[in-house]
Amino acid sequence: MSVTYGKLVIIGAGKVGDAVLNAALRMNLLTDIVMVNRNRDKALGAVLDASHTTAFEYSTNASVRVGDYEDCRDAHVIVITAGPSIVPGGSQDRNSLLQANVEIIDGIFAKITHFTKEAVIIMISNPLDVLTYVMAKKYHYPVSRIFGTGTLLDTARFNRMLGDLCGVDAKNVTGFVLGEHGATSFIPWNTVNIVGVPVEEMEKKFGLVAAPDREKLLHDTKVIGPNIVQLKGYTSAGVAVAACRLIGAVVRNEHSVVPISTVMTGQYGISDVAMSLPCVVGRDGIEQTIELTLDEQGKRDLEICHRHLRELIDEAQKIEKKLAD
Ligand code: FUM
Repeated sequence: MSVTYGKLVIIGAGKVGDAVLNAALRMNLLTDIVMVNRNRDKALGAVLDASHTTAFEYSTNASVRVGDYEDCRDAHVIVITAGPSIVPGGSQDRNSLLQANVEIIDGIFAKITHFTKEAVIIMISNPLDVLTYVMAKKYHYPVSRIFGTGTLLDTARFNRMLGDLCGVDAKNVTGFVLGEHGATSFIPWNTVNIVGVPVEEMEKKFGLVAAPDREKLLHDTKVIGPNIVQLKGYTSAGVAVAACRLIGAVVRNEHSVVPISTVMTGQYGISDVAMSLPCVVGRDGIEQTIELTLDEQGKRDLEICHRHLRELIDEAQKIEKKLAD
């Protein structure tokens, strides 16, 4: 069966799934939004709350409903938000969710792939780089049609912080956070610029009291998510908007360049992990990955990230094996 363009299935009706539902509805782009959750009543609560907003002006009359995995059969996009997230007071390392989420997401993939390998799958559940890789390999999901939100949110936060520092709109910053959505993410500083002004010239061009502090910016980018968890109890708005940025790129066939977690197929000589690289995204998912030219620091950072993710994938595959035994 071919896909129904504009049909979105959200797996998981927790705080993130709920935020994705509401943010996706506000895009006025989707015709059919289906929420799937083990506890159907929870999904129904989220759906009722969101669906009645279509009565307001400026909202399209999209269908919003609770569904089943069978709805994946003709889905254009599937967003996976199921499983636990980091919580206040607990480990702030997303990799601590590995054991629980490998099992949960594996069960979900078995059901999704029973119905489709056509949909574009967006992974939000953590650790998303590891889950994206392990599930793509195990279920032979086309690698162009499965990716994680990855460092898109980290990049948005970095762009905002650097833009604020220089007194300009974050949208004028071109600069990616790449690698893991987590501790080993890195910024290839040689590629960062604001309308063509490289980092080395920002102090002078934007009248700063000092050059941008690269270590601090990267550190702040990494800790902001866990800090939000401590303060608010969870994060949801940022990652939901990041997911919707990707849904928009797919549904509108935008060919947008976004840093997302993709299964690597030889970029930088690597093909045994998923991590965030700038990718061109359109109607059928990833159309191209862009291998930025890295300086020596960038190459070292990439290798640290690669080794770290590979160890986690080994661990995840051991968990998978135990589940199968
Ligand atoms: O789901 C997430 O990994 C979101 C994290 C964040 O807000 O940083």
